[in-house]
Amino acid sequence: MTTHKAHCLILPFPGQGHINPMLQFSKRLQSKRVKITIATTKSFLKTMQELPTSVSIEAISDGYDDGGFHQAETFVAYITRFKEVGSDTLCHLIQKLANSGCPVNCIVYDPFLPWAVEVAKNFGLISAAFFTQNCAVDNIYYHVHKGVIKLPPTQNDEEILIPGFSSSIDASDVPSFVISPEAERIIEMLGNQFSNLDKVDWVLINSFYELEKEVIDYMSKIYPIKTIGPTIPSMYLDKRLHEDKEYGLSVFKPMTNECLNWLNHQPINSVVYVSFGSITNLEAEQMEELAWGLKNSNNNFLWVVRSTEESKLPKNFLEELTIEKGLVVSWCPQLQVLEHESIECFLTHCGWNSTLEAICLGVPMVTMPQWSDQPTNAKLVKDVWEMGVKAKQDEKGIVRREVIEECIKLVMEEEKGKLIRENAKKWKEMARNAVDEGGSSDKNIEEFVSKLMTISP
Ligand code: UDX
Repeated sequence: MTTHKAHCLILPFPGQGHINPMLQFSKRLQSKRVKITIATTKSFLKTMQELPTSVSIEAISDGYDDGGFHQAETFVAYITRFKEVGSDTLCHLIQKLANSGCPVNCIVYDPFLPWAVEVAKNFGLISAAFFTQNCAVDNIYYHVHKGVIKLPPTQNDEEILIPGFSSSIDASDVPSFVISPEAERIIEMLGNQFSNLDKVDWVLINSFYELEKEVIDYMSKIYPIKTIGPTIPSMYLDKRLHEDKEYGLSVFKPMTNECLNWLNHQPINSVVYVSFGSITNLEAEQMEELAWGLKNSNNNFLWVVRSTEESKLPKNFLEELTIEKGLVVSWCPQLQVLEHESIECFLTHCGWNSTLEAICLGVPMVTMPQWSDQPTNAKLVKDVWEMGVKAKQDEKGIVRREVIEECIKLVMEEEKGKLIRENAKKWKEMARNAVDEGGSSDKNIEEFVSKLMTISP
């Protein structure tokens, strides 16, 4: 039986892209004898297909137990009520755990919920903020919040100098929230992530040192930064944890057998995998261009089209698609797909989880960023890590079918794509090394655990 010397309460923001990295980090802590309790909202738990079996999960309330975020009038209303009801119910949970003989000594919280620091202080606990985005994106939000970067920019191609970056970046490559018309309101919320950070013991970032050295060194002078990623299951990386196969929590049911059976019939390095993550919606015109771009390309494809997006597919597209050429599914087991030997290219919206998964599994990318942090991630993929190309939009904001075809060919077949394919392999190795014994993230996690152990009763 494992005896625990420390107990971490993990408080994610209730969203799939937020909770999954924290769940994987929890498993790493648990493997080092830290007890884990994940606290999430009742409404979020209800939407999950399956719950993880390897860590304990407790429910708290965001004040919207029936529909969560969707029940609230605005995001700000949601966050405000979550703060009131959430802090109260979190306090009850901490008391309940103490009464049951398992006192908590640390709270790891998502910075969208900065009030967790006050709760931690009231109980005399250690606290750590866990940023689910990469350090470059956090650095941009930080400087916008501090008023160092004056936004929104006047033109899309305006060059912006951001402290911590060695070169300027185009306005079109900063997170969309920063330049969108509703920027002010959203930036206030994103800026709140940095409130209370002066009171925390650690700032954990879902990235690894080798990937973002420069900006990590810069941010470390401001906050006690520790990179602890990549947070994908150990079985896809260092294989040090003997864990179950579960990836994490999902609101969608993957069509696992259909996908893997189809991939098993494809030649090695021949398939384009296409996905836009869990929330991004494409315009119907974009969907049509993508459909024809894929169909016209020489390569077979596996395309995730969520059921809410299916009506945007061109007329008769599915009926006319032969099973030899392509498979369209509503959701897939993405890590198993990216790991499959038939996959040679990932056409992605560049959500941070997807980007990190492609890095870890060494899959070169064609990027089609849509919003949020995706433009910045795509910029890093293309220009810094050099493991992908960006499919350029036209003046209407649509990526045309010829561009899609061209980018796929470049990444998969052409001599020009050779460096990209080689770099993909290189980053895969670096990601694995970061979490392997003695790697940069492993050392940081060890340090974090040692600190927890020293303050434990
Ligand atoms: C959102 C934002 O859109 C993104 O910009 C931000 O970085 C994180 O939060 P999402 O759009 O869902 O996330 O994208 P992403 O971060 O890539 O996460 C998608 C997750 O769903 C990945 O872990 C991926 O493996 C998984 N997935 C996706 C599947 O398991 N199956 C699928 O068919 C598609």
